[in-house]
Amino acid sequence: MPHPTFHFAILGLGNIARKFAQDLALIDDAKLVAVGSRSLERAQAFARDFDAPYAAGSYAATFDGPRVDAVYIATPHVDHLRLAIMCLEKGIPVICEKPMGLNLTEVEQAVRLARENKVYLMEALWTRFLPSTLKLKEMIDAGVIGTIESIRSDFGFRAQDLELALQPFSAPATAPENTDRHPAAGLERNRILNPELGGGALLDIGIYPQFLSQFLLGPPEKIYAQARLSPQGIDLDTSVTCVHASGRMSHNYSTVLGRTKTEALIIGSKASLHWHPRWHEPSSFSLLTGKDTPPENFYFDFGGANGYRYEAEAVMADVRAGLTENARWSLDDSLALHRTLTEVRRMVGVRYPGEGL
Ligand SMILES: NC(=O)c1ccc[n+]([C@@H]2O[C@H](COP(=O)([O-])OP(=O)(O)OC[C@H]3O[C@@H](n4cnc5c(N)ncnc54)[C@H](OP(=O)(O)O)[C@@H]3O)[C@@H](O)[C@H]2O)c1
Repeated sequence: MPHPTFHFAILGLGNIARKFAQDLALIDDAKLVAVGSRSLERAQAFARDFDAPYAAGSYAATFDGPRVDAVYIATPHVDHLRLAIMCLEKGIPVICEKPMGLNLTEVEQAVRLARENKVYLMEALWTRFLPSTLKLKEMIDAGVIGTIESIRSDFGFRAQDLELALQPFSAPATAPENTDRHPAAGLERNRILNPELGGGALLDIGIYPQFLSQFLLGPPEKIYAQARLSPQGIDLDTSVTCVHASGRMSHNYSTVLGRTKTEALIIGSKASLHWHPRWHEPSSFSLLTGKDTPPENFYFDFGGANGYRYEAEAVMADVRAGLTENARWSLDDSLALHRTLTEVRRMVGVRYPGEGL
């Protein structure tokens, strides 16, 4: 018997929500039934664009309409925990954008609640579900590159309004009410650079290199981290070296100072894999063997998708099967990842307002 159509809701209707909704439209038995925004007008416009029958002017009211089988949380990081708790307490399965929380304590809180309430929860680590990732892992597990010796990966782009963030802070001498001179002035809505919104390279994009190293080498045994911080105290340029089991290392770099290649190199004892830019999204890779042998290239048909349909399909399959977590990206995987990310932030001195690390 075919499954009934799977009903999704989305909270926070920004950039990533739009891409996720575009991908949902590619899944035959999925439907976006409800969208929630801080603004009813924005919700109605989004609902019109994606043919969603229900639009709410608050996140809480999103669930007053049609049945929802799972909700996708797509707000800035600082709201992930609060909204995950709201949904889990209502018994609604959650796929939460990365990072699932600002720090390990927040992620632990969400995981504890999901497990106590036996409600589905998954961090939207979409890269884990891409066909390119699955193939690469299959080849590694089959021994194609031998033992992984080392991993190097990066992710970088130039953040909007960076010049504003880089202005050195000088306390206004004569006009304390002149907030224009405050270093965060003008960055209120910039979630990449604003500490109030959980800004910084590590949590936004450095999470991908850390994911890759954990995925292939396990959680690190030792961490060495350095970062250049903005005057507002968020990390702009972040370099993390991890030592994993058997002394194997991963070199994980993220920056919001400028564009990098955003590629990954998985260095094996017999061969290496070069994951092409931008490796974390629908992409291709090459198998590099002897220096005189041409690379063997692996390309994938993503069917026009942005790449988010695979994580959405994983959630659908899990929830339909009555599972409360995903086997490929489990809650223990998220906990381990956030243990590392929080430790890196502690080492480089990034603290968000009100946070004690
Ligand atoms: N998986 C990926 O590839 C990927 C890519 C980009 C981002 N992300 C993640 O997705 C999340 C959202 O990123 P985004 O790029 O979509 O951000 P965005 O374009 O700024 O959208 C975030 C949305 O959250 C809502 N929101 C709630 N409180 C807000 C606040 N104080 N300031 C600004 N917006 C607020 C707004 O929607 P309403 O006004 O409708 O409430 C806003 O449109 C982040 O946690 C990020 O890490 C993931």
